[in-house]
Amino acid sequence: MPEIKELVKGLADKHGRGRESLIPILQGIIAEERYISDAAMSEVAVELDMSAALVYGTATFYSFLDTEPRGKYVIRICKTITCDMKGKKQIVKTLEDLLKIKVGETTKDNKFTLLETNCLGWCHKGPAMLINSIPYDTLDVNKVTEIIMDYIRK
Ligand code: FES
Repeated sequence: MPEIKELVKGLADKHGRGRESLIPILQGIIAEERYISDAAMSEVAVELDMSAALVYGTATFYSFLDTEPRGKYVIRICKTITCDMKGKKQIVKTLEDLLKIKVGETTKDNKFTLLETNCLGWCHKGPAMLINSIPYDTLDVNKVTEIIMDYIRK
């Protein structure tokens, strides 16, 4: 896969080839490809001269480093206790109804992936979610419906 090779090489030129460069490089791959394929992980291992196991272990350890194909918009709803107590279940149900998918799934048109995640750091404004890198807080059914309808129209 020449494109992946070029992408990884470009990212390594930019971020360096040490261990500390691994996460920025994996994030750079996601920014371009939306997820880290096996081929990309192999290229990173070659380019940074580290074991594929280390690259794979790092990519799969961090839930934000997607190793499966994702939709254009990745929704991550906080599942941690404060958001849970503030009504996260209702928000998840609303999202599932609007998108017609369950948590962990991607819509058929590849536009949305719905995931749960651990605390996003907005507990005081829960329930909270991210869509790609944009945070949304103090969610209720109306607010989350409006947000998703805006994305559907994009
Ligand atoms: Fe949900 Fe912290 S518990 S953002």
